[in-house]
Amino acid sequence: MKIETIAVHAGNHPRNQLGSVSPPIYQTATFTAPNTEELMAINRGEKQGFIYSRLRNPTIMALEEKLARLEGAESAIAFSSGMAATAAAVGTFLKAGDEIVSLADVYGGTHHYFTTVLPRHGVRVHWCDSYDLARIESMITESTRVLFAETPTNPLLRIVDLQAVSEVTRRRNVKLIVDGTLGSPFNQRPLELGADLVVHSASKYLNGHSDLIVGVVAATRTLTRAVRNLQFVSGSILEPLGAWLVHRGLSTYALRMRQHNENGIAVARYLEKHPKVQRVYYPGLESHPQHDLAKRQMRGFGGLLSFEVRGGSEAACKVVDHCQICGLGPSLGGVECLISQPITTSHYSVPDATRRALGISDNLVRLSVGIEAAEDIIADLAQALEAA
Ligand SMILES: Cc1ncc(COP(=O)(O)O)c(C=O)c1O
Repeated sequence: MKIETIAVHAGNHPRNQLGSVSPPIYQTATFTAPNTEELMAINRGEKQGFIYSRLRNPTIMALEEKLARLEGAESAIAFSSGMAATAAAVGTFLKAGDEIVSLADVYGGTHHYFTTVLPRHGVRVHWCDSYDLARIESMITESTRVLFAETPTNPLLRIVDLQAVSEVTRRRNVKLIVDGTLGSPFNQRPLELGADLVVHSASKYLNGHSDLIVGVVAATRTLTRAVRNLQFVSGSILEPLGAWLVHRGLSTYALRMRQHNENGIAVARYLEKHPKVQRVYYPGLESHPQHDLAKRQMRGFGGLLSFEVRGGSEAACKVVDHCQICGLGPSLGGVECLISQPITTSHYSVPDATRRALGISDNLVRLSVGIEAAEDIIADLAQALEAA
């Protein structure tokens, strides 16, 4: 089945006895069993059934089935946020004395978690500021359990060659965990490129309507079982109504992604020619240094792009403040355009020196292109750039 069909149909019918087209919402904390014998059979896994929603809930399972199918994974787990998904994915494979290598260019919250939380649990974090394979491999030691990478990266849209990196991690027996939020499975499927686990902030393209905070981990059944055991005890589940909303939003996922892709390239091409724009970062542009790799690894390039405005941070600030269709705010991947300066939003908590080393300049503007008419988005940017 193609992804368009999976997005509409997967995860509905098996548990839907009345045949409703929309899956039921089991908004319940707990379930009762007819008698102790059946309860024990469910406990022992001899009978399919439900006991308590932190452990299993049919509405959450319906969503997880759809997410797994979209990702081309054996199994997927829904989480209460993207950060909860990342924390559980890395936490499953790390204990005191272990090491993790993370590519330096990751989401600010991930950076914050790795630098402030993991070391307190006795885990050493090594930051690799290069995509050079030899350099990455040189940071892997006998104690390394996880290599963490994000692709495309936020906000500079750098691309990690997943096939090449996964050859290194497989040879060195290290789990490759990939944050695939910016591509999302319509455009990129990291597991097919060699990743062991993929994590998403589903608050972005997967949910797509900017009305929920959600996370996902997808992998083989064996790996997700281990992650799920951590979720059972840490409790970072998505609640049933949230799961239903994501399930509903996913029905139009393919249509949304196609429009994000079309609008993304149209806006990137417009900005690239604008005299007040110094540089545009978008993997779909021929000028992107990794355009060929992006074409190999991705089916489309999504709606996220960044650009540097001539005139420094003041000019960049004027652009974001003058936009009318593009709302000033963090996040991305929703149906509506959102614009922001990474220095005031996604990378606000990253120290200045680290941020500059990552190449995130003060005049950088990040734009999440929505699914509105491209002409309207371009007209909005034109008047905002005029004002800058
Ligand atoms: C690439 C990426 N990963 C992870 C996250 C964290 O996800 P959440 O906000 O759903 O916890 C974000 C949030 O912006 C993100 O952009």
